[in-house]
Amino acid sequence: MTTTAPAPGKVLHTAYQKSVAAYWNSNRDDPVNLRLGDVDGLYHHHYGIGDYDPSVLEGPSDTRDDRIIKEMHRLETTQADLLLDHLGDISPGDRLLDAGSGRGGTSLMAYQRFGCQVNGVTISEYQVEFANNHAEQWGVADRVKFHFRNMLDTGFETGSCRAVWTNETTMYVNLFQLFAEFSRLLEYGGRYVCITGCYNDVTGGRSKAVSRIDEHYICNIHPRSEYFKALAANNLVPINVIDLTAGTIPYWELRARSSVATGIEDPFLTAYREGSFHYLLIAADRI
Ligand SMILES: C[S@@+](CC[C@H](N)C(=O)[O-])C[C@H]1O[C@@H](n2cnc3c(N)ncnc32)[C@H](O)[C@@H]1O
Repeated sequence: MTTTAPAPGKVLHTAYQKSVAAYWNSNRDDPVNLRLGDVDGLYHHHYGIGDYDPSVLEGPSDTRDDRIIKEMHRLETTQADLLLDHLGDISPGDRLLDAGSGRGGTSLMAYQRFGCQVNGVTISEYQVEFANNHAEQWGVADRVKFHFRNMLDTGFETGSCRAVWTNETTMYVNLFQLFAEFSRLLEYGGRYVCITGCYNDVTGGRSKAVSRIDEHYICNIHPRSEYFKALAANNLVPINVIDLTAGTIPYWELRARSSVATGIEDPFLTAYREGSFHYLLIAADRI
């Protein structure tokens, strides 16, 4: 793929982006992501969907936490599988972009499924190194590559991507700028898939629980309406919108009972249950 890699000093444009990058660079020993990833080598930085198996809470107490960790990892991998289900028909000759790629779990799953070139971008240099080392260990580094780049300004060639996804990354950026970049990158008829938390326009502005999530992750959760305005403004036409809110609550309930709970479980559960926050999948086609 023709690409103009921005000079490393030009990747972060604002003081805010520098603070987000610093957050993810310092997030190295986070057991909630590392212990789950250690289960099978797929390291995610997103949440899970689907019912958990209640039997993991029963049985010998000395192995209970291991059972919970494995089950939480199954649910987060199920979430990534659902995202990939919505990318449409992908051939080995296609190129995909994982925008805000974290430690690279979803990119590796995409390669396993489609066998095509996958590029991931993240503004954390630590994550780029972690994910590239991992792709090397999996023997797929020639097909799955991670780059220190800004998803608002990737430097990849216009029209070079068959599909682009964001898995819990859009709350860090202006959606109009982001979708303008994706619209540029996608070929005609290409697909964009997003999984995100967004606040509910119907219940009003940010609830206290949503504000606590923003503060915890230094992010800026958008209202649901903003996604559809920004998609429409950038020639991205929704084909599927799925409300995953009810489907993600069991993950949070299980996580609250695990040894890797961080304290943010309560605001998520409150926000979802009171209806001020949704967990959505949006798939849109580039016209
Ligand atoms: C919650 S993590 C999600 C990681 C990954 N998508 C996953 O599902 O495991 C958010 C990611 O967004 C990335 N990010 C935030 N702002 C970004 C930007 N402007 N450009 C590229 N990546 C960004 C962070 O570095 C981090 O990797």
